[in-house]
Amino acid sequence: MFTKKTIHDIDLKGKRVLLRADYNVPVEDGMITSDYRLTQSLVTIRALLDQDVQLVICSHLGRPEGRSDPKSSLAPVAKRLSELLGQEVRFARDCIGPEVEKAASELQPRQILLLENLRFHAEEEANDDAFASQLAKLADVFVQDGFGVVHRAHASTDAITHHLPSVAGLLLEKEVDTITEVMQNPKRPLMAIVGGAKISDKIEILEKFIDIADFIAIGGAMANTFLAAKGIDVAKSKIDTDGLPQARDILTKAAAKAKEGNFVFYLPQDGVVANKVDKAAQTRIVDWDAHVFAEVESYPKTPAESTRIVSDDEMILDIGPFSGAFIAGGAQLAETVVWNGTMGVTETVGLQGPIGPFAHGTELVIDALVGDYGHKPFTLVGGGDTAGYVEQRELTAAFNHVSTGGGASLELMAGRKLPGVEALESKD
Ligand code: 3PG
Repeated sequence: MFTKKTIHDIDLKGKRVLLRADYNVPVEDGMITSDYRLTQSLVTIRALLDQDVQLVICSHLGRPEGRSDPKSSLAPVAKRLSELLGQEVRFARDCIGPEVEKAASELQPRQILLLENLRFHAEEEANDDAFASQLAKLADVFVQDGFGVVHRAHASTDAITHHLPSVAGLLLEKEVDTITEVMQNPKRPLMAIVGGAKISDKIEILEKFIDIADFIAIGGAMANTFLAAKGIDVAKSKIDTDGLPQARDILTKAAAKAKEGNFVFYLPQDGVVANKVDKAAQTRIVDWDAHVFAEVESYPKTPAESTRIVSDDEMILDIGPFSGAFIAGGAQLAETVVWNGTMGVTETVGLQGPIGPFAHGTELVIDALVGDYGHKPFTLVGGGDTAGYVEQRELTAAFNHVSTGGGASLELMAGRKLPGVEALESKD
């Protein structure tokens, strides 16, 4: 249960509220290409407006490194937010200073002012107290709702709470509650499907899942590193060379857990390979060797030797159909599935249409998770690229929870404390 005070626990009627959101969204040519983080924040915004608050919203966008940069302006967010809310969202050209203070003080009940990117000031990421006190001048109460950024101890997530009464928004509460419940009290069997590129980014959750999950399936470029750690020649495939020792360590831990029984650690048995990431690239399916999957006793036998080898100029760019079917089958046995990381190259850059040639493994996983094969487990999708893909396919509603946080959801799943949550007032 969420132990911090939320906007329902304090009297906000008619107050001036500073809301920290995470509107770090992709913007291309001044247009937002994914507004999931905006739509998910509307519940809190509407609940605050119902209290007749004067609402000042702040966020970061990108990593402008303490300098003003038009490419990282939040102006497109003000525009999109006002479309979503059906009311004007005023925009301030800075986030601190006399002009912003004046604009905030002129707000009427139910009016909204969005501040320019906090990270145009280096003091934000430095968790600078003087900067936080400038922000605090804009409001009577601070509401933290930027789940995606609460793993950072920054001025707008940590220092600010020393200056204003500070409570959580409803998105933050929902994210923390849902992810914590799945990690602490999952309906079993619990399956974790983990992809992505770097082992180091996911090492903590992999270790956590070896502890708590019944089935772990690995995909994406991360699988290449595990295969390489197993001695498979992955040719030009992307691997995380620095992560090789960690991969070996994880494999040892997984094998020890598998020996105890009732646990599967699954690496893909086949992959889609090509010599370039291009929609027109010639692809083929390679089944490299079934003995890799020693932890899975009843594995199908390998096909002919010639199909086992990734050629020198090829890369593994997706899991193959056997692996996709095996993972999808696992999901049909699971009651809870946590999915973090796509199974192959899913970026549409240079590819055509919503489903690229290296996205079929990911699509198979999606089909299994959303109930297309009959059984629908409880599904938690980690943020970042995975959520981005699901959103691009307009499938967010088909999952139980698609997190708005990338790093934050990983840290929470790993059991780490999140500074931006810890800093808030506790319920009595
Ligand atoms: C995110 O997109 O994960 C959050 O907005 C945090 O951004 P950051 O990694 O630049 O701190």
